[in-house]
Amino acid sequence: MKIAIINGPNLNLLGKRETDIYGNMSFDQFLSQLKAKYPQVVFSYFQSNVEGELINEIQKTGYEYDGIVFNPAGYTHTSVAIGDAIAAIKAPVVEVHISNVHAREDFRKLSHVSGKSAGSIFGLGLKGYELAIEYLLSRTS
Ligand code: DQA
Repeated sequence: MKIAIINGPNLNLLGKRETDIYGNMSFDQFLSQLKAKYPQVVFSYFQSNVEGELINEIQKTGYEYDGIVFNPAGYTHTSVAIGDAIAAIKAPVVEVHISNVHAREDFRKLSHVSGKSAGSIFGLGLKGYELAIEYLLSRTS
């Protein structure tokens, strides 16, 4: 089972960035925990602050991996091109947001990704990534 985790802009700052919203743990720390918890999964991890690089990674992993866990961060609310990339690929995508985007500013309620994804998880902190992995594992068992 191969799962790609893709994080969008500013998520390289997890653990330092608005910790009241996003928590104190860096994504590297969290990824080590995920790898230990799911030894049967081959993970790839990619983070970028650049829209086109995220699209390239979706296209690359979208035909090679069994599933993608994707937090598009701010591009969720603005990027038609990222939504199109998800619609173009074979792998199921689970959209994850650490914070509850529906309990924040109105502009965060629009997602160009939700309608193209297998499902979406928001507001459950980093646990959302784990739940997305559980879902992708359940699809193949
Ligand atoms: C986020 C929510 C987005 O609205 C925001 O722009 C982010 C992070 C989240 O994980 O809660 O950068 O995707």
